[in-house]
Amino acid sequence: MKNLRNAIKNKGKIKKITVLTGSGISAESGIATFRDHDGLWETYKVEDVATPEGFFKNPELVWQFYDRRRQEIKKACPNRGHYALAELEEAADLHNITFNLCTQNIDGLHRKAGSKNILELHGSLWKVICMDCKKHSLSEETPIKDIPPKCSFCSGLLRPDVVWFGEALHQDALEKAYAAMECDILLVIGTSLLVYPVAYFPFFALKNKAIVAEINVKETSCSDYFIFVKGKAGEILDNIVQLIREFM
Ligand code: OAD
Repeated sequence: MKNLRNAIKNKGKIKKITVLTGSGISAESGIATFRDHDGLWETYKVEDVATPEGFFKNPELVWQFYDRRRQEIKKACPNRGHYALAELEEAADLHNITFNLCTQNIDGLHRKAGSKNILELHGSLWKVICMDCKKHSLSEETPIKDIPPKCSFCSGLLRPDVVWFGEALHQDALEKAYAAMECDILLVIGTSLLVYPVAYFPFFALKNKAIVAEINVKETSCSDYFIFVKGKAGEILDNIVQLIREFM
């Protein structure tokens, strides 16, 4: 934390703050991460439930997986980490500081906590796209009665509006994310940084001379490049937000 304080102090006026989150921020809300012990990818095969090929092969199985996740996540509440980031955004707004929250999470908990300027890089569990008419729509029915669900406009097969392995991020999201990385300070929270292109983002921020602080319960393969702050997001983000607010 001392390193972070010194870096912010030396930076001078903060004009732009960006946050990048992964599943670790929702761990204290009771939502499983992907690659930790007992993570989702220990129970499910990525290729079965998180690829376009898996969906074409067995849409029922994929929808059962997402329906189960929706049921679990619907019951979950944001934790102190999510709320601290919503408070940081509010404080940034008051001081005319640009604030962007980029998340790989599809759970919607940042929004539930009150964050506003959110870029959902991997889509949302609560949105669907029709495979036929390509309409995007909200979908909150939990549990889903008829699996796989059908489009209410054309009866085509619906798929979750999420980015699967082997798929590109939406161009618009990618452009906004890279623009957000041109910031004074980037907080990278609860992500293993193993999935691309998101794993590049903090390095892009570094190249643009941002302070990059990584908040995680354990070091990642990228930690040596950043200011590493060890701890649970729900326990230490309040202090980090407090620290940043001192320099607004
Ligand atoms: P991972 O499961 O790969 O990593 C979770 C990270 O959170 C690890 O580095 C943990 O150490 C850390 N962590 C766990 N609990 C924490 C806590 N309480 N506070 C802080 N950190 C904590 O999950 P992601 O990095 O989010 O994509 O995974 C990235 C993408 O891979 C996901 O969006 C998903 C997944 O496959 C798709 O499905 C396309």
